[in-house]
Amino acid sequence: MASEIVKCIECGKEHSTSDIVYTCSGCGNLLEVSLPLRELDTETVRSAFDSRPLGVWRYREMLPEIACGPVSMDEGGTPLHRCSTLSERLGVAELYIKFDGMNPTGSFKDRGMTVGVSKAVDLGVRKVACASTGNTSASLAAYAGLASLRCVVIIPSGQIALGKLSQAMMHGAKVLAVRGNFDDAMELVILAGKELKLYVLNSVNPFRIEGQKTAAMEVCDQLGRAPDTLVIPVGNGGNSAAYWKGFSEYRQVGLTDAVPVIYGIQAEGAAPIARAFERGEERIDPVKEPETVATAIRIGNPANWKKTIRAIKSSGGTSITVTDEEIIEAQKMIARTEGLFVEPAAASSIAGLEKLLERGTVDSDQRIVCVATGHGLKDPDSAIRNSEKPVEIDPDMESLRAALGS
Ligand code: F0G
Repeated sequence: MASEIVKCIECGKEHSTSDIVYTCSGCGNLLEVSLPLRELDTETVRSAFDSRPLGVWRYREMLPEIACGPVSMDEGGTPLHRCSTLSERLGVAELYIKFDGMNPTGSFKDRGMTVGVSKAVDLGVRKVACASTGNTSASLAAYAGLASLRCVVIIPSGQIALGKLSQAMMHGAKVLAVRGNFDDAMELVILAGKELKLYVLNSVNPFRIEGQKTAAMEVCDQLGRAPDTLVIPVGNGGNSAAYWKGFSEYRQVGLTDAVPVIYGIQAEGAAPIARAFERGEERIDPVKEPETVATAIRIGNPANWKKTIRAIKSSGGTSITVTDEEIIEAQKMIARTEGLFVEPAAASSIAGLEKLLERGTVDSDQRIVCVATGHGLKDPDSAIRNSEKPVEIDPDMESLRAALGS
């Protein structure tokens, strides 16, 4: 049986899966895991998958081999919520939200970490690290704890949501708050990885992407086919690339006939990928001081820009921006019409869909899935800042009546 390898996305150079590499040793480009999928029989994997519960490890034949037994908290298997009210309001035939905020630590990062941290254990490393706008650090801290690994997380000081910071701290990570932004933290963690032999579990780690691609496979299984359109927030660019890999490989193995068009949504003040699409170039101009209320995607120099631009392009889609106001409006609308509390970055996919519909880029007769990447409880400050304040009353009916205006 052919074995799995790690391959450069640019020059194709092959690396062993037992080497610790994040970029090509030949040309410095990003790497991806290449699995011997041709050897899989469609019927056999279909019945194997169907015999297991929905979740990341349901798809183990299409994941890297893990010798140690996975470091897992039953991640994945998140709801694909049918949005009846929202569909009507937006005038679309079929709209779903893939609510990946329902993962163990409240974001899609857990899909990547179960595979990435399992790989870390297989490789025999003792220390793991990441840079993060919050969710990656929360997830890595939890999985590192589960695997008894030491964990260092580097965050932009004062710029990550409180819920996420509290998770990283409570799970026992060493939290370093860098005087700078996420892009500075990212550069630093790559250097620290090399010099201090820390295993880096940002999405430049190709094993993370393998776990994350299972969300696309779940969507196909939950719908009974692939959606026509997938709308997804883009920050560092890992997840959009992971979805495309998931859909493409599912098609390659014969488990879906079609794949969706992918639209990547960025916040107006942190949109190097959307700008590259506007210019029609496969190249980004990094944003020096990225700014958005959606702190999870406040990223000016996305590490995976090449992968995500290629993924979105190959799917036939594009990348657009939404404003902070549009993000908050969408967050409220999802919460108030569908009962789902998603964090601002996650709401950007719905805000983006509204714009895509307005512009006629996406047709209303499509079967649409918006990805909600993180839970609203991650960022209570933003939710409170943008909602009506509680009305303080005395504990009597008079006060209550006055407050209700009745
Ligand atoms: N949505 C949420 C809630 C996120 O936390 C992130 C990324 C994204 C979307 C964007 O995904 O980077 O793969 O394009 N958060 C990272 C972090 C950067 O450190 O938690 P991406």
